[in-house]
This record gives sequence, C-alpha cells and structure tokens, in this order.
Amino acid sequence: MTTTLSTPVTYDPSFETPEENEQQTIQDLVTTLQSISDVTAKDHQHGYRSVHIKSHGVLTGKLTVAPDLPPELKQGIFADAQVYEAVIRLSTSPGDFLDDSVSTPRGFALKVIGVQGERLQGDAADNTQDFLLVSGPAFVNKDAKSFLGGLKLLAKTTNQFPQFKKVISAFLRGVEQVIESLGGESATIKSMGGYPQTHILGEQFFTQVPVLYGPYMAKLSVRPSSPALQALIGTHVNSNAEPDALRQAVNAFFASNPAQWEVLVQLCRNLDTMPIEDASIAWPEDESPYLKVATIDVQPQIAWDEKISPPIEDKLAFSPWTGIAAHRPLGSVMRARKLTYQHSSTFRREFNGCPMHEPRSTKVL
Ligand code: HEM
Repeated sequence: MTTTLSTPVTYDPSFETPEENEQQTIQDLVTTLQSISDVTAKDHQHGYRSVHIKSHGVLTGKLTVAPDLPPELKQGIFADAQVYEAVIRLSTSPGDFLDDSVSTPRGFALKVIGVQGERLQGDAADNTQDFLLVSGPAFVNKDAKSFLGGLKLLAKTTNQFPQFKKVISAFLRGVEQVIESLGGESATIKSMGGYPQTHILGEQFFTQVPVLYGPYMAKLSVRPSSPALQALIGTHVNSNAEPDALRQAVNAFFASNPAQWEVLVQLCRNLDTMPIEDASIAWPEDESPYLKVATIDVQPQIAWDEKISPPIEDKLAFSPWTGIAAHRPLGSVMRARKLTYQHSSTFRREFNGCPMHEPRSTKVL
C-alpha cells in the first residue's frame, strides 16, 4: 500500500525564533570551545579541532546525484544529475585524543566540490558544499544554550582522567544496552561515552539539524548501500586493547573494498512534528521518510596514514555554513555553529601557520 505524503512546508523566516540572549550564548560557546583547544594545543604543541579531534580516516570519492528526481527533491546541489568530487573525514566527537575504548558518537564530515550557487560565507569563488553528520537522528540538546551547559562541564575534563573515562565509558555502554533492551535509546548516555562499540563504516549518519532545501527545509542522512558496507551494520569492533581500533578497521576495509553510501533527504512536511528550533527531536520517518537523492562512491585507498593524513586534515575545515544559500543552516544550533566553526578553524590555521583554502579538487589534498 502506498501512502501519500504531505506537501513539503515552504520556508518562512518566522519559523526561526532566536532567543533574546543568543549572541551571548554563542560568544560563551566560542570561549568554552577555545578553552578545549588551548589545553590540547599546550599539551601537543599543535592546534586541533575543539571537538571531533580524532580522525579515523580521510577519504576521497565522488557524489553522484540520482537522475529523474521528483521536482521537490531537485534542489540546491541536487538540482541536476551531476557527478561531484567529494572528501570525507570520519571522526569521533570528543575534543581530546582518547582511546577508542571510550566509545562516543561517530562523525561523517562531507565536502562536495564543484557546486554552483550564491555562497553563504567565505570567498565568492569557492565551490564547496559541506554537510556534517553524526551517528544518531537527533542532537543531544534542544538548542545552543542547553548544549553550552554540558560543554562547559566537559571542557574542564579535556586531557584529564583518561583511565576514568575508559571505566565510565564501559559502564555507560552497559547502561545504554539495558535501555536499548527495553526498547529505548539515550542520546545523552551515548554522547557521554556509552556509545556501542560499533564499526564506524556500518553506521547511518544524520545532519540532526535542518538546512534549507531550495524553498523547503530538510535534514540529510548518509547510509551504507554497498553489500560490503552493509555487512558491517551493527558489527562490533573490539577497542579494549587497541587505542586506534576504528582507524585500523577503516584502513583494513579500504585496503581492498570500494564503498557506496546513499545520501537521503527528509523534507519537513509538518512544523508541529518536525520543528526547526528544537534540535533534540528526530523528525518522524512515518510522516516524512528519508528519500534517496544521491550516492557517494569511494574506491579502495589508504584511509589513514600516520605521516600523510595529519597535514591533510590540518588543511581541511568543514562547516555547515560552507556552502550555498539554497542549503542555508536553520535553527538555534545551526546559528551557533557559524561563528564557532570559523573560530576553531581560524585558531588551527594561526597556531599551525598552515594556510587553509577550500579545495577546488581532491587532487590538491
Ligand atoms: C551548537 C552545536 C555545535 C557546536 C558549537 C559545534 C562545534 C564544532 C566545532 C567548533 C568543530 C570543529 C571545527 C573545526 O575546527 O574545523 C566541530 C566539528 C564537527 N561537528 Fe560540530 N558543533 C555543534 C553541533 C554539531 C552537530 C549538530 C553536528 C552533526 C549532526 C556536528 C558535527 C560535527 C562534525 C562531524 C565535526 C567534525 C568536522 C571535521 O571532520 O572537520 N556538530 N563542531
């Protein structure tokens, strides 16, 4: 039986309702994130991302827009059946270099190269579109202000108590298992180290917060579609004895396998159940399923090399605000990300004395 989906809601500026003191919250986020980078810079004599510091692979590939999309999905960079170059950085969320046995949500930062359209920020000649995704359909907090509260506490633990973090992570994984056995799920417990020890390549990733999708609003997702990737869904990577188990698992996979992910779009079809300002609510998939708009293909390659990869990721900066006006980020969490990402990447550039340009091709990486 096919159900008819409601028409997507057309964006109106009245859907966005900034808090009175939002600018102060954003400034406090910048300061708190900087305090994390200050600790790691002092300890490692290098400027690093204030969060998602640890990479598990930097990949190059292609994004192919699906042909014959229905008009509502033919928007922004998905308007034409094009093939773009793409860069992916796989990460985990903390701001300090922890052993992978401290198990946290996984990140998938995607940079699409060669896109056309009015730009949101930066050099008008840039031609990249970034989408940043994390494993899990909703953000851990509803807005920037509530995220700041948790981040302030976490920032104080940067590069501290590594053994304790391993113990607490193992404990929280147990708690999360119990919650899941009862049919639930806790984004908070997962973000604190209770994330199951899954293979990062078997994950489905989500933008969690919305962007414009032409005249509409949407969240995006990336999920494994090639058989070799699908075989990794739900598989366990034992990281108890190997601090870089995820990096090793990604390298082992790409030593001989190509990978394909589907890029999916979930359009906002009802503002009551699919809010713009509350990032903690996963939009119901029965009301608006994720629909395929593109595929990402990655050929076998060295995903991580101790010597080659760090300078490459130093040169890269991903931000939801790097892109075109047709995919402008929306809502409290997204507004807070504009300055915070700029600040973090500027700090890295200045500390490391390493110029950062949006790549015009994957060949320059
Ligand atoms: C208010 C909320 C958030 C703040 C303040 C924030 C802040 C940051 C900062 C400062 C960075 C480092 C940027 C750099 O140095 O280049 C970063 C990285 C990242 N963030 Fe966020 N973030 C937020 C929410 C989110 C959300 C909702 C997602 C996706 C669901 C996300 C996914 C990522 C990913 C994947 C990276 C790693 C990017 C890379 O590989 O370079 N973040 N975040």
